[in-house]
Amino acid sequence: MFYFLEETLSTNDDAKSTCYHHSDVIVAERQTKGRGQRGNSWLSGEGLNLTFSVVLEPHFLAPREQFLISEAVALSLVEALREFGIESQIKWTNDIYVGDCKIAGVLIENSLSESSVKRSIVGIGLNVNQKEFSASLLNPTSMVLAAGREFVREEVLKMVYERLMANFVLLEALRFEVVREAYRELMYRADEWHNYRLSSGEVIEAKIEGVRDSGELIVSDKSGARREFLFKEIEFIIEQRGDRVDKA
Ligand code: BTN
Repeated sequence: MFYFLEETLSTNDDAKSTCYHHSDVIVAERQTKGRGQRGNSWLSGEGLNLTFSVVLEPHFLAPREQFLISEAVALSLVEALREFGIESQIKWTNDIYVGDCKIAGVLIENSLSESSVKRSIVGIGLNVNQKEFSASLLNPTSMVLAAGREFVREEVLKMVYERLMANFVLLEALRFEVVREAYRELMYRADEWHNYRLSSGEVIEAKIEGVRDSGELIVSDKSGARREFLFKEIEFIIEQRGDRVDKA
């Protein structure tokens, strides 16, 4: 079921309420405390974009398999954008990029039992019709900027939801390899040499080789050594594109 809210702090927080169940979606027109990854806030122009959270109950996944949720969500966003004529890629772990610009972000919060993933709150911020962004954001983009036309947000929401539920069915059928392979094919900067900043501050030149099933990024460095990193241990260095316009 879809629940539409005019204003809320964060749909991810709302979705934690036990009154919501598997496949429910909480959509907000305005979030006053939208949250992003790495403790960042999520800024979204009011009435222009999509900010929503989907509740999933993937009881069939073991805690060690939880990265599959990230993979399925990112894949769903790429597939939905493709339906609207926009080609995108997945910046590990689950940012969605068009070229070097971010079009969507995902914040997944899982509750685990010892043997399974009990509940997964999948928060999605997708830039749809916003043309000007805060100067504080690095290379934001939107569907309107990528495609040169505006989109009906309800149609986009329906498409993302459909793709997400279809990919959830694949997971439920334990067809994990289909989702994993599709994710790997779509990885931003895969097999290319780029600079990355490590949590120590060191910058390395490295090439993405893939991702472990448990979610660690696999890269090789110039010495030929293969190295693996957790989310907080490595950061992509991406050059700033174009002019920045200071709009919220
Ligand atoms: C990121 O790229 O940092 C993740 C952004 C996730 C934003 C969405 S908007 C809907 C949901 N509610 C939140 O507070 N955050 C997520």
